[in-house]
Amino acid sequence: MVYILENSYVQFLSHYNTCIRKMEVSPFRSSSLAIVVALVVLLLLPGSSSANLSKNFYSEKCPNVFKAVESVVKSAVAKEPRIGASILRLFFHDCFVDGCDGSLLLDDTPSFQGEKTAAANNNSVRGFEVIDDIKSKVEKLCPGVVSCADILAIASRDSVVLLGGPFWRVELGRRDSRTANFTAANTGVIPPPTSNLSNLITTFRAQGLSARDMVALSGAHTIGKARCTTFRGRIYNESNIDRTFALARQRKCPRTSGTGDNNLANLDFRTPKHFDNNYYNNLLIRRGLLHSDQVLFNGGSTDSLVRTYSQNNKAFDSDFVSAMIKMGNNKPLTGSQGEIRRNCRRMN
Ligand code: HEM
Ligand SMILES: *[C@@H]1O[C@H](CO)[C@@H](O)[C@H](O)[C@H]1NC(C)=O
Ligand SMILES: *[C@@H]1O[C@H](CO)[C@@H](O)[C@H](O)[C@H]1NC(C)=O
Ligand SMILES: *[C@@H]1O[C@H](CO)[C@@H](O)[C@H](O)[C@H]1NC(C)=O
Ligand SMILES: *[C@@H]1O[C@H](CO)[C@@H](O)[C@H](O)[C@H]1NC(C)=O
Ligand SMILES: *[C@@H]1O[C@H](CO)[C@@H](O)[C@H](O)[C@H]1NC(C)=O
Repeated sequence: MVYILENSYVQFLSHYNTCIRKMEVSPFRSSSLAIVVALVVLLLLPGSSSANLSKNFYSEKCPNVFKAVESVVKSAVAKEPRIGASILRLFFHDCFVDGCDGSLLLDDTPSFQGEKTAAANNNSVRGFEVIDDIKSKVEKLCPGVVSCADILAIASRDSVVLLGGPFWRVELGRRDSRTANFTAANTGVIPPPTSNLSNLITTFRAQGLSARDMVALSGAHTIGKARCTTFRGRIYNESNIDRTFALARQRKCPRTSGTGDNNLANLDFRTPKHFDNNYYNNLLIRRGLLHSDQVLFNGGSTDSLVRTYSQNNKAFDSDFVSAMIKMGNNKPLTGSQGEIRRNCRRMN
């Protein structure tokens, strides 16, 4: 389904570009200089945010990559909807540590400790087997062509679409790192759930993402689950939480640290398997699960944006897509940097 959309969207886009071109050029017919300026602007605009990645990167090298990725993600999500959430989170945690370079996917080696056991990831990140399945399918189709970092980007998009969220064309051309850095992953670049609003704004700013991007990307918590240990402090100790909600969560998350730490709760209590804007509706009634969720609507600078997204699913979809593309452009390896891993768990 996604790859069909991909093709029809290409057609839509080329139609759209033709319209734009007509719109831009015809008013200036009298001046050839204006036409040249308009064409230069048109040529530069699409690349201005992301000089090194492109939507057509695999159109010649591996045109069926989308179909292959989607079919694996589709059966994994059909088996367990949460896996779509887990894959999306992998992309976030990869992109925030030394850029979107597939470093999170590397297992530990004698020469380095990988990122999988860093604080934000240990006993928490999941979905690596799905990435392995996609990789082996894509390697059979186009050996040595598609990076693990790009697979993560495409699989994240497919996960969002399969769970009912927006479609977008993924920017591609990333290459894979030949190393991972436990220390970099472990020292706060990925914000903890205890973050206050200024911590969140600062950690996203450090990755070139605005407060608006941060609020839109947090909407990813419309799907998936969190462990008791990540929200215990909030449900027992905080006052900006709906009482009924707190009591319900306490039933499966004991107060004492070390007991029931891994018990799970849905991040979105209403529609946890559906990618929608209910995350924001929950914040309005003080039913954000994580401390870092509720700080987005707690009398601070992001309240109005949370209200907007709660009332306008299209505004959320559109900002989420822009922010995903922006996050996906975070310091990719390109050209001859890095490599195309044959197995996402180890360097070649
Ligand atoms: C704003 C700062 C963020 C914080 C503090 C944060 C924190 C967390 C925490 C603590 C969990 C639960 C992990 C566990 O208990 O094992 C979680 C889950 C999740 N996060 Fe975030 N997150 C943030 C932003 C994001 C972003 C930007 C995305 C993706 C675009 C994302 C996607 C997810 C998803 C989908 C899950 C559920 C994963 C699953 O069920 O396996 N989060 N997050
Ligand atoms: C593109 O990649 C090259 C290295 O391959 C790098 O020097 C350059 O800064 C990158 N440009 C952007 C806009 O990321
Ligand atoms: C990761 O979690 C395991 C199991 O809980 C623990 O034994 C290990 O020490 C943790 N690793 C790190 C690096 O914290
Ligand atoms: C790993 O990350 C840390 C913290 O960002 C940095 O100081 C260190 O130089 C990095 N190590 C390597 C080998 O890149
Ligand atoms: C947010 O947390 C940091 C520590 O992580 C603290 O220094 C700062 O004062 C806090 N900001 C607010 C507004 O509470
Ligand atoms: C609640 O706060 C108190 C006082 O700061 C602290 O001692 C306790 O550990 C906290 N409880 C939880 C479950 O976080």
